[in-house]
Parts: sequence; C-alpha cells; structure tokens
Amino acid sequence: MNKRFDLTGKTAIVTGAGRGIGRALAIGLAEAGAQVAAVSRTADELDQTVSEITSAGGSAHAIIADVTESGAARRIVGETIDQLGGLHILVNNAGRNIRSKALDVTEEEWDSITDLDLRAAFFMAQAAGAVMCDQKYGRIINIASVGGLVALRTGVAYGASKAGLIHMSRVLSLEWSKWNVTVNTIAPWYFRTPMTEKLLADQQYVDEILAQTPMGRVGELEELVGPAIFFASDAAAYVTGQVLAVDGGMSTFGF
Ligand SMILES: NC(=O)c1ccc[n+]([C@@H]2O[C@H](COP(=O)([O-])OP(=O)(O)OC[C@H]3O[C@@H](n4cnc5c(N)ncnc54)[C@H](OP(=O)(O)O)[C@@H]3O)[C@@H](O)[C@H]2O)c1
Repeated sequence: MNKRFDLTGKTAIVTGAGRGIGRALAIGLAEAGAQVAAVSRTADELDQTVSEITSAGGSAHAIIADVTESGAARRIVGETIDQLGGLHILVNNAGRNIRSKALDVTEEEWDSITDLDLRAAFFMAQAAGAVMCDQKYGRIINIASVGGLVALRTGVAYGASKAGLIHMSRVLSLEWSKWNVTVNTIAPWYFRTPMTEKLLADQQYVDEILAQTPMGRVGELEELVGPAIFFASDAAAYVTGQVLAVDGGMSTFGF
C-alpha cells in the first residue's frame, strides 16, 4: 500500500459495523492497517465483522451498543481505548430511515430518525473529539447521504438529519482544525445493503433511480472504501469540512 494511505498504527471506531456500509468500511479500514472497534446492537453480526477482520490478520474488537443511548458515546470511546490502546479515526455510519411523507411524519418517527442520524452522530463526535483534540490528531468521517445535499423523495426527517450532519461536520472542522482533527463527510447515493434491499428489488424503482444516475448503476460497497481510507489517512491531512458525494454523478445531474 502507498504509505500515504497506510493506516497501520491507527485505531478506528466504526458505528453500524454489523452489516451494510459500516461492515464494508470496517473491513476496508482494517485492510488498510487500522485496528477497528466495530459497534452495533447485534452481537452475532458484529462477531462476523470481527472474525472476517481477524481471520485476514487484522485486529478488531466488537462493542455492543445502542449509540442513541445516553452515555453510550463515552462508553464506546473508553472501551475502544482500553481494548485497542488508542483512538484516531471515527466513522459515524449508523443510520436509519422511515420514508413517510411530510404530512404523515409522526413525532416518534421524527425523533427516532434524528436521534440516530444526527444527535447520536454528534455525541459520538464529541466523545471522540475530546480525545482527538487532546492528542492533537484525529479523523472523523460522517456518512450522510446525497439526500443531505439535494431534496429527495426519501423523507423530510432523513433529509434534514443528513443535511444537519453535513453542516455539523463543517462546524466541527472549523472548531477542531487547530488541533489537527479533520471532519469530513461522505454522501452516498444508492448501495445494496439490508437498508435498501427491498427498494432495490423493485425494478421500476431501480429504473427511476438509474434515470437520475449518469453512471447508470447503483454503487458497489467497495466503492465507498477508498473515499473513507482517503479521509482517514495522511493523504487527506489538509482536507477538512468537505463533502464527497459517492453517487455515480447523481448530485451534479441537472436534467
Ligand atoms: N445503503 C444506501 O444506499 C445508503 C445511501 C445513502 C446513505 N446511507 C447511509 O449509510 C449508513 C449505513 O447504511 P446501510 O444501508 O449500511 O444501513 P443498514 O444496512 O441498515 O445497516 C445499519 C447499521 O447500523 C446499525 N445501527 C442501527 N441503529 C443503531 C443504533 N441505534 N446503535 C448502533 N448501531 C445501530 C445496524 O445494526 P443494529 O441494527 O444491529 O444496531 C447496522 O449495523 C446510514 O447512515 C445510511 O443513512 C446509505
């Protein structure tokens, strides 16, 4: 591996690492040399992620946690440092959506989406950021969505949360740059995961998506790994507050 992208000696927390995008990013960061604390609520899924990393010669530790619970962020950061010896990278990936139309959104739906997609991501960043600012090194990567950049029919609570996550990243980058802590965002378009599998099984829906996608296909999970390694690595040492859309050109497509 080119040394600019080498994460050997670094420790990363990846939330939502039991399946989907988080699992791919945890494995990808480990392949680049990082030790990984894999976080989600489901032990057997985390065990699969950890065993895939360790059987390939990497180092990983499972942390079963609901990131929306009060105090969870500090516990996850503490356990990562205790078990893996440090903390250098945070990937805020855990997220969810409920696609209600604006007139139908309930208070419970709004709270459950914003709690996970925005509030929990902030308190994870705050807990990790305290360590990172103190040690004058850190890389925070937030997984938003193209739905945080442009208005999509994926629901107002999700779009507002992901737009908030993008702007939160910018403000954190402003406050923490002086301590060499960068904060960047990846905004994916459609990728096949348990979250999207029902939608992407509907060929009419897929045709509508692809009509808006210059590359004419959905993304492969592997195509999110390189951008995450870039933001996590020395290659991106002077890059902060940025949003990288990994979207087959969708967000730049006017008509
Ligand atoms: N897939 C796409 O096309 C797409 C596109 C744009 C953006 N995104 C974003 O990418 C991220 C990952 O999406 P995905 O498609 O991989 O989702 P997914 O398949 O539903 O996986 C979500 C992961 O987050 C974990 N999680 C959910 N709630 C949690 C909580 N309260 N505490 C801790 N972990 C929790 C889940 O594990 P447990 O349920 O076991 O906790 C799971 O490991 C999300 O932020 C999503 O908004 C996805």
